[in-house]
Amino acid sequence: MNSSKSPCVLLTGGAGYVGSHTIIPLIESGYEVVVLDNLSNACKGDEGQKPVPITKVEEIVGKQVTFYNVDLLDYNSVAQIFDKHDISCVIHFAGLKAVGESCVIPLTYYRVNVSGSINLFEIMKAHNVKKLVFSSSSTVYGEPKFLPITESHSVGQNLLNGYAKSKYYIEGILQDLCNSDKEWNVIILRYFNPVGAHPSGQLGEDPTGIPNNLMPFVAQVAVGNRPCLKVFGNDYDTIDGTGVRDYLHIMDLADGHVSAVKKIETNSVNGAVAINLGTGNGFSVLQVIETFSQVSGRKIPYEIVGRRQGDCASSYCDASLAKSFLGWEAKKTLKEMCEDTWKWQSMYPKGFSTAK
Ligand SMILES: NC(=O)c1ccc[n+]([C@@H]2O[C@H](COP(=O)([O-])OP(=O)(O)OC[C@H]3O[C@@H](n4cnc5c(N)ncnc54)[C@H](O)[C@@H]3O)[C@@H](O)[C@H]2O)c1
Repeated sequence: MNSSKSPCVLLTGGAGYVGSHTIIPLIESGYEVVVLDNLSNACKGDEGQKPVPITKVEEIVGKQVTFYNVDLLDYNSVAQIFDKHDISCVIHFAGLKAVGESCVIPLTYYRVNVSGSINLFEIMKAHNVKKLVFSSSSTVYGEPKFLPITESHSVGQNLLNGYAKSKYYIEGILQDLCNSDKEWNVIILRYFNPVGAHPSGQLGEDPTGIPNNLMPFVAQVAVGNRPCLKVFGNDYDTIDGTGVRDYLHIMDLADGHVSAVKKIETNSVNGAVAINLGTGNGFSVLQVIETFSQVSGRKIPYEIVGRRQGDCASSYCDASLAKSFLGWEAKKTLKEMCEDTWKWQSMYPKGFSTAK
């Protein structure tokens, strides 16, 4: 980094899965990091201690991380963080992300995701901080009309749940904001399927309750926390009939954020640009089970059940814009994704509650 003072990056939701892993390469690249999180979906520390994922990050990087237990909906408390720190850029991870739950409590999802984002953008504007990286999702594409999915694929059509719609609405708000004020530099990252853990095994995904996603479920079956995995449908038009997705190692995803922040810091984005983050390759459910079984040496019992409403046969991205625009591409293989997940899961079979 050239400037004498390192730019300060605020991570909303930085105690969560993607945020906590992203702190590591940000600090390793020389950035100052400030984290805000209300711990609604992150493991709290003991009385007076930082959240467990933040403590783990501090052990990995050998540096303290500034942390605020603040809710994004609390305008004054968020504004105070901006008063206190010379924030250059924000990575906005905070939000609710369980697709099924968003159909049960949609208003909560819109309040936290959409109203929380508006709060943040207003505070940023008031503090003249106009550089933002936003965590969006491949769910904004709905059912793919063609593969691989490019960024010019239609978005917002036939979205089946409040989670996907909330991401789509926030993307629209950001486009309007950038149209109204040309000083904003915004990168919208549409993640495909982040999986895996830090290679040390000290930090990983720690879902509360029943995991919504395949990889943590497979890991919990492998370690013996759950008896059997349900595979939803084996009659899709795919290599083996099971659903195909674009899985991406969490540390590759974390590096993608550093590339986005570096790009934003050059002030050359001028508006809002949406970028896919994925490997560009799809793997089926059975391929994931097979690879996980090989690396863990554990049998993973599964049963085939009917298709799940809202699932499509295949989804994987065209990742070429990330390469040309950000200079980023995913490097890690499915085997590494499974190995690092297994390392984390076997070291901490019950997640962060056993890591305190
Ligand atoms: N993990 C994925 O598979 C995936 C895929 C696509 C997009 N995303 C998006 O990436 C972002 C991060 O995902 P994640 O997997 O790390 O989720 P996560 O739930 O692990 O992290 C989100 C964090 O935000 C915090 N948070 C929630 N509401 C808050 C509020 N009102 N104020 C302050 N903090 C709040 C939670 O406590 C949590 O620590 C989310 O916006 C998610 O929608 C995730």
